[in-house]
Amino acid sequence: MTIYHISAECFPVAKVGGLADVVGALPKYQNNLGHQSCVIMPFYDNKFTQNNTFESVFTATFLLGNEKVNFRVFKLKNKSLDFNIFLVDIPELLFTNNIYSNDDTNRFIAFQIAVLQWISQMEVLPDIIHCHDHHVGLMPFMMSHADQFKSLKRVPSVFTIHNAQYQGQFSHSKENLIPEFDKNLTGLLDWDEQINPLATAIKCAWRVTTVSPSYMNELMYNAKGLESLLSSERNKCIGILNGIDDVVWNPKTDGFLIKNYSKKTVISGKKANKQWLCKTFGLDEKLPLYIFIGRLVYEKGADLLSEIFDISLQDTQKSILLLGSGDQKVERGFEQLKEKYAGYFNAFIGYDERLSHIMYAGGDFLLMPSRIEPCGLNQMYSLRYGTIPIVHKVGGLKDTVTDINDHGFGFCHEGVSAIEVSKAISRANAFYARVEDFRKTLKRIMDIDHSWQYSAKQYIRLYNELIKLK
Ligand code: ADP
Ligand code: GLC
Repeated sequence: MTIYHISAECFPVAKVGGLADVVGALPKYQNNLGHQSCVIMPFYDNKFTQNNTFESVFTATFLLGNEKVNFRVFKLKNKSLDFNIFLVDIPELLFTNNIYSNDDTNRFIAFQIAVLQWISQMEVLPDIIHCHDHHVGLMPFMMSHADQFKSLKRVPSVFTIHNAQYQGQFSHSKENLIPEFDKNLTGLLDWDEQINPLATAIKCAWRVTTVSPSYMNELMYNAKGLESLLSSERNKCIGILNGIDDVVWNPKTDGFLIKNYSKKTVISGKKANKQWLCKTFGLDEKLPLYIFIGRLVYEKGADLLSEIFDISLQDTQKSILLLGSGDQKVERGFEQLKEKYAGYFNAFIGYDERLSHIMYAGGDFLLMPSRIEPCGLNQMYSLRYGTIPIVHKVGGLKDTVTDINDHGFGFCHEGVSAIEVSKAISRANAFYARVEDFRKTLKRIMDIDHSWQYSAKQYIRLYNELIKLK
């Protein structure tokens, strides 16, 4: 079957977080199953687009309200991605090096219209259109109800919620930007007196998925105002656990690592990566190394990190290294901690793909005290690299990490107070001292298979159900 994934991000073209990793991997695994899966995303002005060559495959104009907008669709020439990727170039709106900005409404409405205008005139339509997150949440509505896209009415749409905290709401005063539709249907766009692309997608997509079974359950009572909508649409909703790209994330071949390693050589391999990290960041390599990688936002528990680190570092029996950026108050807090715990704590504020890989490899434990975690990929990467996760039992973390006391391999805490997280860290530190058990666990977790091959099949089954309904 032919599947079109539509997304604002896709690794390695443009990445802010896990959305990019998912959209950059799932199509590859769907193609391995014999399908034709591709990605359509915006054309940003970034390193990837500057360093690659593209061919133009479609040019047209559409109306955004009263304004004529020109766009072009480019196809990546180089075949290195294992799936076709098409970039929609709308110079006035999308061509910046920032994936997101403060006013994304016009940008992403324009992107969605351009994509549908291109697809709707194709001689052979795709079997499935799979939209990811609120940036493309109006597409299922437009496909079913915009006069201009009538040809797409019977193409099944799947919508995946990667994070319901972000819904992309905007005022009804911008309704005129959406292509002509029967005004009796305005209610489908509305939630709480605003146009809400996430709510619209939940109402209009043929099926709604999210990225782990536990998060699907949690959404019924914690979805930033959309709980009742999700409960009423529950029958068409399903949680499918994300996978990881086990080719990109493979410690044996990962080109970013200081030293590659397998399960057999994990002890010496991790040591080399840890040594590099400790030398680079002034930490003591004899102590267990705890890492945190991620966006510094409330959902990730970022506001609690300084307190957690402060409690945990008092015994001087561990080191902590953080990679991330976000809330500036949180970032400033780390500057103070760096002074207070010099030699035990360091933080790299920013985004660095290479460093993240070396950290997954060289860390001993990974911290994820997320308040909300729809799936979480970090814990799956860390398992593959033999780094033990310490997680809040929520969402996808609950579905992928089992506590060592329950015959598992990680450290789980029930709540996200600084005290609870610090207790889990203390348990981990005691475990580190049990050298044989610790080493056995590293090897055991490297065997856990979280690759996309299982979940890719689940998506195909779901698409097949929809194709039968056409
Ligand atoms: P989310 O999408 O909510 O940010 P995920 O766990 O799904 O969380 O995915 C986060 C992805 O982004 C992972 O690939 C992680 O390694 C990466 N990442 C997050 N912050 C950084 C950073 N500062 N530098 C490099 N990679 C990062
Ligand atoms: C979102 C979620 C994260 C998930 C990712 C990929 O960014 O916050 O938990 O892993 O999407 O689905």
